Amino acid sequence: MPATDVAAPLWASAPGTRLPHDVERVRRDFPLLGLRPDGRPLVYLDSAATSQKPQAVIDATAEFYATANANIHRGVYRLSERATALYEGARATVARFLNAPRAEDIIFTRSTTEAINLVAQSFLRPRLAPGDEILVTEMEHHSNIVPWQLVAAERGAVLRAAPVSDRGELDLAALERMLTERTRLVALAQVSNALGTVNPVREVVLAAHRRGIPVLVDGAQAAPHLVADIQALGPDFFACSGHKLFGPTGIGVLYGRADLLDAMPPWQGGGDMIASVSFERSTWAAVPAKFEAGTPNIAGAVGLGAAVDYLATLDAGAVRRYEAELLAYATERVAGVPGVRLVGTAAEKASIVSFVMDGVHPHDIATILDADSICIRAGHHCAQPLMARLGVGATARASFALYSTRDEVDALAAGLERVRRVMGR
Ligand SMILES: Cc1ncc(COP(=O)(O)O)c(C=O)c1O
Repeated sequence: MPATDVAAPLWASAPGTRLPHDVERVRRDFPLLGLRPDGRPLVYLDSAATSQKPQAVIDATAEFYATANANIHRGVYRLSERATALYEGARATVARFLNAPRAEDIIFTRSTTEAINLVAQSFLRPRLAPGDEILVTEMEHHSNIVPWQLVAAERGAVLRAAPVSDRGELDLAALERMLTERTRLVALAQVSNALGTVNPVREVVLAAHRRGIPVLVDGAQAAPHLVADIQALGPDFFACSGHKLFGPTGIGVLYGRADLLDAMPPWQGGGDMIASVSFERSTWAAVPAKFEAGTPNIAGAVGLGAAVDYLATLDAGAVRRYEAELLAYATERVAGVPGVRLVGTAAEKASIVSFVMDGVHPHDIATILDADSICIRAGHHCAQPLMARLGVGATARASFALYSTRDEVDALAAGLERVRRVMGR
């Protein structure tokens, strides 16, 4: 497989321009956003859970099945070669999107969750001794906590969590103080799914690397909003999910540093990940095949490639400015509803407003809003330790994407007023 040899991420800003983001045009690319349940517009404010898909992704996936479906890598007939080329082409596209040094550094997984489990089992498990430490933060998603707990329990290692302030900001100095000669890995989210906090990941990478400690960045929430640039950020591992990135479900990505991936053993065995098999002994294929046992999600990878190609048609700087303005507007409107308190008010945030309302359970908020076809999430957001730290059992969370609008924010604010009336507040 050829090296991609890229200099800049695929999804970039047009230099020297301040083009506005044309949200109405973008919305027309997402068929689901045109739904009108009960004759009213659907207001989809749950993009942090999963994003909607542009027609280009739906078409690419359908077209793969209609015109190119065959199993990959082993076929010698042209249809299989075409399917292989599409799958490997998607890998190269994702590598360019993340600005990874080489396409081979990209491993397709099922999801962020599976990518993190791969690193836990294949990278960390063999290196952990009793008393070793794994450092996360208090604001991690369960999928960046539990995989480490599993290997820590088996090896007698300790999971530690760097503190988060009441505003939901990472205490970087405290994190640095928690880096010890026993720390074997630092794992943290670039953007918190529960609060929207953007973490100073570059600083964490530098601090950890100064002590020779590798870093995994959970980019599940960052990839759809920030230009993910592996070469600028410098992590040893980076994980993200296709479905949050306008692509299909069931496809995820792990970037790994080439020398680490080369040295890691496979974590699942099966077809496609071997060089040779006998009953006495098997040998492994080179990276990335070593980590992709069995028939992968070929159509999912093709769909993810199409999602990334779609993003590349939009100006990243314009999207970033648009989302920042929308977040500021949503923050003001939601905070302006009497009885509402924001949870997570970090200085650097991305596209998420988490809140609680006096005397109303978040589930009731979400259920009442659903009567107006407004979709928000309520609960612990797979971040129970963070909820405990902030002293809330659950929050209501509205999350935005590059297709969200001020009208939708207005609908949310009006919906919250209705919640107050219905609940007698
Ligand atoms: C920050 C973060 N990490 C990891 C995950 C897990 O992603 P997935 O369920 O796609 O594996 C999520 C999903 O919400 C997330 O927000």
